[in-house]
Amino acid sequence: MKPARYLLILFAFVSLLLLTTTPSQSQRPTNVEQRVNALLAQMTLEEKLGQLQQLDGEGNGNFRPEHLELIRKGLLGSTLNVRGAQRTNQVQRVAMNESRLKIPVLFGFDVIHGYRTIFPIPLGEAASWDPSLAERSTAVAAQEANNVGVRWTFAPMVDIARDPRWGRITEGAGEDPYLGAAFARARVRGFQGNDYSAPDKVLACAKHWVAYGAAEGGRDYNTTDLSENTLREIYFPPFKAAVDAGVGTLMSSFNAINGVPASANAFTLTKVLRDEWKFDGFVVSDYTAVRELINHGLVGNEQDAAAAALNAGVEMEMVSRSYNTFGPKLLEQKRLSMATIDEAVRRILRIKFRLGLFDNPYTDEAREPNALLRPESIRLAREIAGRSMVLLKNDRETLPLNKSVSSIAVIGPLADDRRAPLGWWAGDGKEENTVTPLAGIRAKVSSQTKVGYAKGCEVKDDSTAGFQEAVNLAKGSDVAIVFVGETADMVGEAASRSSLDLPGRQLELVQAIHGTGKPTIVVLVNGRPLSIGWIVNNAPAILESWMGGTESGNAIADILFGDVNPGAKLPVTFPRTVGQVPIYYNHMNTGRPPEAENRYTSKYLDAPWTPLFPFGFGLSYTNFKITNLQLSAPPIQADGTLTVSVDVENVGKRAGDEVVQLYIRDVVATMTRPVKELKGFQRVTLQPGEKRRVTFVLDREQLGFWNREMRYVVEPGEFRVMVGSSSADVIEAKFEVAG
Ligand code: BGC
Repeated sequence: MKPARYLLILFAFVSLLLLTTTPSQSQRPTNVEQRVNALLAQMTLEEKLGQLQQLDGEGNGNFRPEHLELIRKGLLGSTLNVRGAQRTNQVQRVAMNESRLKIPVLFGFDVIHGYRTIFPIPLGEAASWDPSLAERSTAVAAQEANNVGVRWTFAPMVDIARDPRWGRITEGAGEDPYLGAAFARARVRGFQGNDYSAPDKVLACAKHWVAYGAAEGGRDYNTTDLSENTLREIYFPPFKAAVDAGVGTLMSSFNAINGVPASANAFTLTKVLRDEWKFDGFVVSDYTAVRELINHGLVGNEQDAAAAALNAGVEMEMVSRSYNTFGPKLLEQKRLSMATIDEAVRRILRIKFRLGLFDNPYTDEAREPNALLRPESIRLAREIAGRSMVLLKNDRETLPLNKSVSSIAVIGPLADDRRAPLGWWAGDGKEENTVTPLAGIRAKVSSQTKVGYAKGCEVKDDSTAGFQEAVNLAKGSDVAIVFVGETADMVGEAASRSSLDLPGRQLELVQAIHGTGKPTIVVLVNGRPLSIGWIVNNAPAILESWMGGTESGNAIADILFGDVNPGAKLPVTFPRTVGQVPIYYNHMNTGRPPEAENRYTSKYLDAPWTPLFPFGFGLSYTNFKITNLQLSAPPIQADGTLTVSVDVENVGKRAGDEVVQLYIRDVVATMTRPVKELKGFQRVTLQPGEKRRVTFVLDREQLGFWNREMRYVVEPGEFRVMVGSSSADVIEAKFEVAG
């Protein structure tokens, strides 16, 4: 054979070998790592620091020319608030065509509970106790957001919140780590799918890492002081669930934790996140949180702030510019190493590659017009809102109302308000798309029904001038429905309240309407637990509608008139008075648990120790019975599993949903343990008379805790297991973990 032929055969053989060993999907990380490293090797220090910088595009899609200049020079890796397919493409073209290394810009935006189709506030959605709904709503949010050029959402917010004074309680899944973890997982899956480079997915960001929800006094941004056990058992689990579900990024929070601000906290950022959990994505600081290390008193100037945050493990700096400004000097002074900078850049580039940004930096502008408010998205928003609303009281079957009732008085400042249902962080939700309760009711009732409307008062101000009109309307109607609560700007960021009462004159409005003697149904439109004792004692029916999103009014009408049977349960305790806060169901027992007859026990002189509504509470138009609690095989070994099962039966006359909840208590342990801890739940739909066996499995993951040596252990001894329809309504059994 001629040498040329040899060469040809050799070439064919090598090509075949290469072809058959092309990296498969599962090997993709290696490929990504190679691309990251190749790029990193070409970057100047300034370009590296540029990747660590995120700047605010100044809202409304306006893009400051100096930011474009930074992108051109490769000095800006990410923006927030820049959106719209056209706008993001325009900005991206500068990065792709005019910058030296053509590293695409990552566009972030707060898509919390919907982009244009707005779903219930996350606290409300958690009340559905159905994480699959959260997965579906975040999938719609991702699809809409991606189509307008947003590739990264600052969500899910997975902060546990035990203090309803804190306005941001509205953004999370409530007070419980187990429920919170389930929703965190679902939301990450919904936003990211299996592959967040897909054209209908976005990169997610679990925030705010960590313990932001424990702000002292419920005052936003305030400091926190928590034991490591409390961090690991209460505040970490939803983040762990998000990381395990593959979340690409986390956001470091504003607060300090035990004296070290979260945005410079090596324990949480490096030891836990990187070393223990093996997180390989990146952390972005919250808005100017790096510079705020100065106010915390951790550092005296911005240069030191940069060193503290970057060395602790915050890779991207949002809005303040300490890394960029002081990075070179810190490097020179050896207070920052090139290895640290490279690691930060590597993490950010890794995510940009995984997001497919390099291969697919632009958004197809043709898709945008058909991407938003699709009929199926609107239908889903209505369904989820209906499944999130909690029936708090329903005496003498006041609800559901008959659709052909002859006259209805729709009253209250939130009866026809288009903004409140969208809640805080309403993405690019538009008031014009909101269905108000008044519109929902009008669309629902028969054409003979007279629906009157009177506002009565505003949410916040002091005027009662509208009361008379509202009272007259109620007097002339068969039934009154009063919509009271909070405005959107009373919840969310920087919206802490020192009172949980209804603001303004709203309670008096309810009292005036109730005084007419007409059946007065109260619908709450609000973003946090409220202390509504008078209403609970007097109104025959109360519906917690939260801030239910675009379709809120339709969903409310579906429930009020019985087309939807409410089945949601509170994901957070409702206190009787703000003075009981913090009040949460999974508290420790104390040495002197409250006893009515014994003064020297843990309680108040001037208020009961029990909440207004317990965690897990919610009614239905039908009734359920939970019976026949059985355990598989007690005792079990510390690493064994236990099966717990109950019968749940619909003993009423309508089809409906029950959320069967399982709690445990470790009776004696080397650390005090909560009186109850949620460790399982299932929402089941049952026809009248239908009975179903519901089964839970408990294992090490549910039975253990972090002991004094900070080891996760299951200790031998007695456990109680409780199953029921709320944290305060359970049947129970015991079992032993063998020693
Ligand atoms: C909030 C974050 C949000 C960020 C960007 C901050 O003020 O705390 O939750 O993602 O702004 O808008």
